[in-house]
Amino acid sequence: MKGIVYDGSTATLVDGLSVRDPGPREVWVDVAAAGLCHSDISYMHGLYPVPSPGVCGHEAAGVVAAVGNAVTHVAPGDHVIIATLAACGFCEFCMDGKPTFCRSTLGNWSQPFTLDGEPIYNFAATSAFTERTIVRDVQCVKIPKDVPLTSAALVGCGVVTGMGAVFNRANVKRGQSAVVFGVGGVGLNCIQALKVQGATTIIAVDTLAEKEGLARQFGATHFLDGRRDDIVEAIIGILPYRDDMPRGPFNAGGANWAFDCVAHPVVTNNALECLDWGGTVVVIGVAGQTAEFHGLYGRLTQVDRGIIGCRYGSVSPQRDIPYIIDLYRRGEVLLDELVSATFPIADWKSAVEGLESGSVARAVITF
Ligand SMILES: NC(=O)c1ccc[n+]([C@@H]2O[C@H](COP(=O)([O-])OP(=O)(O)OC[C@H]3O[C@@H](n4cnc5c(N)ncnc54)[C@H](O)[C@@H]3O)[C@@H](O)[C@H]2O)c1
Ligand SMILES: [Zn+2]
Ligand SMILES: [Zn+2]
Repeated sequence: MKGIVYDGSTATLVDGLSVRDPGPREVWVDVAAAGLCHSDISYMHGLYPVPSPGVCGHEAAGVVAAVGNAVTHVAPGDHVIIATLAACGFCEFCMDGKPTFCRSTLGNWSQPFTLDGEPIYNFAATSAFTERTIVRDVQCVKIPKDVPLTSAALVGCGVVTGMGAVFNRANVKRGQSAVVFGVGGVGLNCIQALKVQGATTIIAVDTLAEKEGLARQFGATHFLDGRRDDIVEAIIGILPYRDDMPRGPFNAGGANWAFDCVAHPVVTNNALECLDWGGTVVVIGVAGQTAEFHGLYGRLTQVDRGIIGCRYGSVSPQRDIPYIIDLYRRGEVLLDELVSATFPIADWKSAVEGLESGSVARAVITF
């Protein structure tokens, strides 16, 4: 079968991949559609400390082709979204509803594929850019068959990452304000989750001015060009503490929340600088392993600001994915509109160009 394999220096479309049979708690999924997330580009550029060669892709939906003999919650023919968390289901974190903390969800690499007889690793426990993949049963979330699989695919990473950061990690309250830096597949989902939560001021920031239309369509109340030098002043101008009161020594005024969907030191610092007292930066973007950011201690202490990270929206997939699909079916969040373009796998490089140029919300590869 066809698939995109990263060999440690280059990603290539190959034909001739095979996948092993499912074990007792494993599932074969025939991938129907797979979104291209920025993390796929990072993987193909060698930024992640994971072994290769590996089959790329981690944001997918498809149809169950076969199940192991201990799998009970999905059956062949079911439509599923694949979650990247191959959580154990038994540790204290899984039991506490925090599978993103489950230690077995990172670094448990395996080689379920072969190419011309050579073993090939999976990526993010998923490997979505191939016609058939193999995942753990806990990773399969069954969805109604009327949800287009091209839209459902995006829920597997970009949607849960952005929405979960707002719903779970931050738990934004009605009437609060937020700034979202980076209006890509992740940032757009922060924006629409903020709208669901009842945030009243939602400021989107991107270095591409053409992202304004998408940002507003998904719920942003303001859009600012991230290339401006006075971005922090512009945000405070929208959210002053009081018109007649200066920011003072501890920087009053600004947003309750800032979601950093870029992870560049300038962006992270701007995110901290644009917060009101008590505000929090949620860092979602993934930077290189040794990348650093800088900020003033005085922004944090005495006024209770914070900087926190968020992995995979802190989601519990079997709880949060059905909730998101329900919001979509009730028209409260947009999924179809995230799919800017679809490309057959033979044309996967056009999907990469679309993401790298910033011309798409998401580009989706189909099989
Ligand atoms: N924490 C997690 O679990 C998790 C999961 C998925 C993705 N990610 C990461 O989240 C980030 C976003 O992913 P994505 O798929 O949405 O990427 P994307 O490429 O779709 O979007 C990134 C957006 O950021 C904008 N941007 C770039 N530099 C900027 C700047 N200086 N200021 C403002 N905007 C800027 C780009 O124009 C683009 O619109 C990536 O770093 C990705 O690796 C993290
Ligand atoms: Zn666990
Ligand atoms: Zn991703």
